[in-house]
Amino acid sequence: MVCVPEYGAMIPRSYKTALKKAVRGEGIYLFDEDGKAYIDGCSGALLSSVGHGNKEIADAIYKQLTSLEFAHPSRWYNEATMEAAKEVASFAPEGLNYVWLVSGGSEAIESALKLARQYFIERDGESSSKYVMIARWNSYHGSTIGTMGLAGSMARRRTFYPLYQDYPKISSHYCYRCPYGLSYPSCDIRCAHSLEHEIRRIGAQYVAAFVAEPIVGSTVGGLHPPKEYWPIIREICSKYDVLLIADEIMTGIGRTGANFCLNHWNVIPDMICSAKALSGGYSPVGALIAKDEIVEILKQGSGAFQHGHTYNANPATAAAVTATLRLIQREKLVENARIQGDRFSKKLESLYNIPIVGEVRGMGLMRGVEIVADQKTREAFPSSVNAAGVATGECLKQGLVVYPGRGQIDGVEGDQFLVAPPLIVTENEIDEIVVRLEKGLRAASEKLLSGL
Ligand SMILES: Cc1ncc(COP(=O)(O)O)c(C=O)c1O
Repeated sequence: MVCVPEYGAMIPRSYKTALKKAVRGEGIYLFDEDGKAYIDGCSGALLSSVGHGNKEIADAIYKQLTSLEFAHPSRWYNEATMEAAKEVASFAPEGLNYVWLVSGGSEAIESALKLARQYFIERDGESSSKYVMIARWNSYHGSTIGTMGLAGSMARRRTFYPLYQDYPKISSHYCYRCPYGLSYPSCDIRCAHSLEHEIRRIGAQYVAAFVAEPIVGSTVGGLHPPKEYWPIIREICSKYDVLLIADEIMTGIGRTGANFCLNHWNVIPDMICSAKALSGGYSPVGALIAKDEIVEILKQGSGAFQHGHTYNANPATAAAVTATLRLIQREKLVENARIQGDRFSKKLESLYNIPIVGEVRGMGLMRGVEIVADQKTREAFPSSVNAAGVATGECLKQGLVVYPGRGQIDGVEGDQFLVAPPLIVTENEIDEIVVRLEKGLRAASEKLLSGL
């Protein structure tokens, strides 16, 4: 029987889970109401990249709030948003110079879907048939009705299935459990080529965009593709006049050791959705970054994006974005993510000595661990055991917060978690994270293999 706190009028994420009360944060640490310190080993949900309690960012937001807190974006524009957009565009790859600022990742994805559709209407006329968005199984793009039809994490979408329009999906590059039963490199990256089959099957005249995460986040923690994957995807999208929308909501803003993750493969998408670390967690944020040509078509056409939320382009968020990006650049945090990420990767190899560790994967400071009942056969624990919950619970006892996920094998089976400390993490802190992780996983292993 779990003893849950009294939540009063607030609806918590769960009435059945005993959430801890967070009281304060400092650097890579969060403190509960008893003063116990926890390493925020997953940066919240990969957003607290510049660490907790940063006064420079808080001051920048305060300064903005006391000069202009709000002016509705349908009648006003403001300097703070212009400045933030310029910072974001200079962080993005060449040719993506336009930024639409919103309040969250789901809003950024919804904005991208609408802009993609509107772009083809503006470019080809009202009769444009391009409206289908292709996505991937084992993905997550948000919690709104629109983004749930796009994403493929079955566990999260099943309840709401009747509510949304379901988009077609291809399999992801899950090499550890290849959906085609093949192995790299003799597979010839069939998962990437399957996009071409899907486009042809539907008819390219109907397909507007392909949406995917460069490295999978919460649904298959840290799942990174073979090096050929993204260049092949880019080529297919260009060949069939399909927009490539990169969901960099978790992977962007330095997380993997590059400004945006697709930079690792020199792939330039047509749109990038960013959020989370874009404001370091100091303000709700999302951003759609669009290729020049898309916005030029809009400018020359109707001249207005048929979309908008009250808090779109709000000055307080903009101030947080500008302050965060400047801090990231000044403190060379993208470089730190690469350097500490390499150290992390080497140290994490030791986890394979723990019998329940199936695969350790990822890039930079975005790493995932897949938990298995048997390292040789890769068999998962039965879902009733909640192995991810046991593992993350044991890590928490060690004072380390990680980000669990389940159901990646078939929507029901499979356990994994993400470890992704803030980008400010030091060498010593990386070592400490690995020590705590090992202790937590060893305890979980003993529990799980002895039948709990
Ligand atoms: C890859 C990805 N896309 C979209 C989202 C949705 O972002 P938000 O929760 O800010 O709406 C998330 C959130 O975790 C995410 O990880």
